[in-house]
Amino acid sequence: MKHSRIVVMFIGLLAAGLAFAQQPFVIKFSHVVAVDTPKGKGAEQFKKLAEERTKGRVKVEVYPNSQLYKDKEELEALQLGAVQMLAPSLAKFGPLGVREFEVFDLPYIFDSYADLHKVTQGTIGQSLMKKLEAKGILGLAFWDNGFKVMTANKALRRPEDFRGLKMRIQSSKVLDSQMRALGAMPQVMAFSEVYQAMQTGVVDGSENTPSNVYTQKMHEVQKYLTLSDHGYIGYAVIVNKKFWDGLPADIRTILEGAMRDATKYANDIAKQENDEALEAIRKSGKTQIIALTPQEKAEWKKALMKVHTENESKVGKDLLQSIYRETGFDPGRL
Ligand code: LMR
Repeated sequence: MKHSRIVVMFIGLLAAGLAFAQQPFVIKFSHVVAVDTPKGKGAEQFKKLAEERTKGRVKVEVYPNSQLYKDKEELEALQLGAVQMLAPSLAKFGPLGVREFEVFDLPYIFDSYADLHKVTQGTIGQSLMKKLEAKGILGLAFWDNGFKVMTANKALRRPEDFRGLKMRIQSSKVLDSQMRALGAMPQVMAFSEVYQAMQTGVVDGSENTPSNVYTQKMHEVQKYLTLSDHGYIGYAVIVNKKFWDGLPADIRTILEGAMRDATKYANDIAKQENDEALEAIRKSGKTQIIALTPQEKAEWKKALMKVHTENESKVGKDLLQSIYRETGFDPGRL
C-alpha cells in the first residue's frame, strides 16, 4: 500500500474515532405533565444545567405530556433502557412492587411542605430510594408538586357527597381505599386520559393538584373544586441504574450537582405554581371553588382515618410509625 493511502486511511480512522468520542450522552427524560408545572419546569431546569455544565457532552431530551409514554409504560421503558430518566408520582411505584412509596398517599399525613421535607429530605427518604435499586433503578431526588383538591360535577362538601361517584385515581392501593372510605368508586386511569374521561362522563371526578388541574384544563369539564388539601402529590426522579453507573465519573458528578440544583429550583417554585394555578382557575369562572369549614374538614378527617390503619401493613408499619415520629403526626388527632 502506498504511503499516502495509509496516511489517508489513518486520518479517516482518527476522524471517525473523534466523531465517536464527541457523541454526547443522551438522556431521554419522559414525563406525563405539562411543561408549565413544577415537574415540567424542574425537568427543563435540569436539562439547562446539565447541558451547560457538561459543555454539551450530555444532551437531555425532555418529553413532557405523555408524548413518549403513559404512566405504566414509562416505568417499563426505563427498565428496558428506552428512556433514561423519569419523575413518576410517588403513587405510581406500586406496579414496580415497591408499595412503601404509597405511604405518601395517606390522607392528611402531612400538614405542610415543611412536614413532608422532614421525610423526603431525611433518612427515611434515602432508605425509600434504596428500595428501588433491586429493580435496576436509582432514585436521585424527591420533587414536590403539592396538596390535592377534589373536583367533580357535584359539590363535594361532606364525605357523603362522594357516595356512588366514579373517581379517577392513580394506580395506588392507598388511594383506592381512600376513595372507598368516602363511598366513591375508584377508577385507576393514566393521567393522559383523565380530561377526556371527565368530558365524556366515564368518571365523575378526580383528585389532583391545582397545577395539574389547570394545565390539563380539567376545570373546564368539572363544575366544582373543593379545597380539601387531603393529600400530597410529589415525585421521585429516577434513572436507569445501569446507564447512570456506566457514565464517566466526571460527568456523573456534574449531573449530580445539576440534579441537586434543579431539585432546589423545583421545590422552591412548587407552592407558588400551585397557588397561581388555583388563582387562574378561580379567574376562569368555569369552576366553583369550595372552601371547607373547620367542621366539614373534621368530618373528612374522621371518615378518612381508617385508611391509615387499613393500609398499615401494605406500606409497612415501621415506616408509617417512623413518619409519624418524624412529623409529630398523631393519628388519634384526625
Ligand atoms: C396524576 O397521574 O394525576 C399525577 O400523578 C400526574 C403527575 O405526574 O403529576
